[in-house]
Amino acid sequence: MKRNRPTTPFPTTGYYGEEFFCNREEETSMLINNVNGGQSTTLVALRRIGKTGLVKHVQNKLEKELICIYADILPTENSSDLLNALATAIVNAVPERTSIGKKIWSFIKTLRPVINYDALSGQPNISFNIHPNDSAYHIESLFTFLEKQEKRVLFAIDEFQQIVNYPEKNIEAWLRKTIQQLKNVVFIFSGSQQHLMNDIFSNPSKPFYRSTLFLQLKKIPFNEYQDFIQEKFSDSRKEISKEIVAEILNWTDVYTYFVQLLCNRVYLSSKKKISSVGWRQEAYKILKEQEYIFFEYRDLLTSQQWNLLKAIAREGKVKAPTSKEFLIESGIGSPATVRRSLDSLLKKEMIYKDYDHEGKTFYCVYDVLFQRWIQAN
Ligand SMILES: Nc1ncnc2c1ncn2[C@@H]1O[C@H](COP(=O)(O)OP(=O)(O)OP(=O)(O)O)[C@@H](O)[C@H]1O
Ligand SMILES: [Mg+2]
Repeated sequence: MKRNRPTTPFPTTGYYGEEFFCNREEETSMLINNVNGGQSTTLVALRRIGKTGLVKHVQNKLEKELICIYADILPTENSSDLLNALATAIVNAVPERTSIGKKIWSFIKTLRPVINYDALSGQPNISFNIHPNDSAYHIESLFTFLEKQEKRVLFAIDEFQQIVNYPEKNIEAWLRKTIQQLKNVVFIFSGSQQHLMNDIFSNPSKPFYRSTLFLQLKKIPFNEYQDFIQEKFSDSRKEISKEIVAEILNWTDVYTYFVQLLCNRVYLSSKKKISSVGWRQEAYKILKEQEYIFFEYRDLLTSQQWNLLKAIAREGKVKAPTSKEFLIESGIGSPATVRRSLDSLLKKEMIYKDYDHEGKTFYCVYDVLFQRWIQAN
C-alpha cells in the first residue's frame, strides 16, 4: 500500500510504515507465526499502547502473501452496523482494479449495497438496506466469499469488545460458529477494554472461550525506544543525547502515545541540539494546552472520585488503595468508599489496573499528562 510520509518522524496517529515504527519484533513475529499456522489471535493492551499500530505493521509485512483486511468496529452499535463495517473494510482492503478487487466488488454488488464515498478520503462506505435479522446471514456470506479465495485472508477486527454492547444477545455464539468453520481466513481480534476482551475469550461459559491465542501487548522496552528516538532525531541532523531521551521517556512513563506526542513537539520546536530545558518547555506547553481537559475530568467526577484520582496521580503507582496511609493521603474516609470510587474510575477508563512482576495488583492513572499536571501543581 502506498503511504504518505508523516510530517515528523514521530506521528501521533496512524501507521506510516516500518521506518517510523519502533521495535515490536517479538510481537510481530508471534502474530505472523500465528497467522501462518492458521491460528487466530486476541490482542489486548491498555489504551494507546500501540495495538492498532502493531496490527497495521503485521498487515504491512503480510500484504503481499495475504489479503489483509482491517475493520475498526468501535462505532458499531448492532449487527447491521457490524455488517456494514465488515463489508466496507473488505472493499477497502484491495484496489478495485486488481483481479481480487474486481471479484470483491462484484460479490458485494450482489448483496445490493448502498455505496457512499467519504468526502475526505474518497473511500467507499458500504451499507445495506436489510432487515436487522438478516445481517447475520449476510455476514456469513461475506466470510464464505473470503473463504473461497485462492489467497489466504488475514482479517483484523479492532475494538472487538464492542460486540458485547450490541442488543442482539446471541451475537457471540453465531459469530463464533461462523468463524470456526473458516480455514482460509485467520483473525486478529484486538481491543483495549481488557476486562471485556478477557470475558469474551477466557470465560469458559462464553462461545469464544479459548478459540484464539492470546497476546498481551506491553510497553516498548525503554532501551529500544531510547535508541529509536535518538536515531530518528539524528536522521534529521538533530542532536539529542541518550540522557535527554531518558528524561523524556521517564516523564512520559514510556507510554507510547505520550512518548510520540512529546517527541513530535520537541522535534518541531528544536533547531539543532535538544537541551533539557528545551524539552521541558515543550512538556509544559502541552500540559497548559490540556488543562481544560483536566478541569473537565473534575466536572465529570464526584468529589470523592476526583480526590482519589488526584491521589493516585500524585503517587504514580498505588499498590494498596485501602491502606491506612493511602486513605489519609487521599483524604477519603473509608475503604468502602475507596473501593466504590476505584470501580467507577476503572469503568470510566480514568485509571487502569495492572500487575507487577510478582503478580501484585497496582493502579495508575491512564493519562500520563494528567499525572504530570497534578504532580506539578
Ligand atoms: N511501535 C511503535 N513505534 C512508534 N510509534 C508507535 C508504535 N506503536 C504505536 N505507535 C504510535 O502510538 C500512538 C498510539 O498507537 P495506537 O493507536 O496503535 O494505539 P492503540 O493501543 O491502538 O490505542 P487505542 O486504545 O486508542 O485504540 C499512535 O500515534 C501510533 O502511531
Ligand atoms: Mg487502536
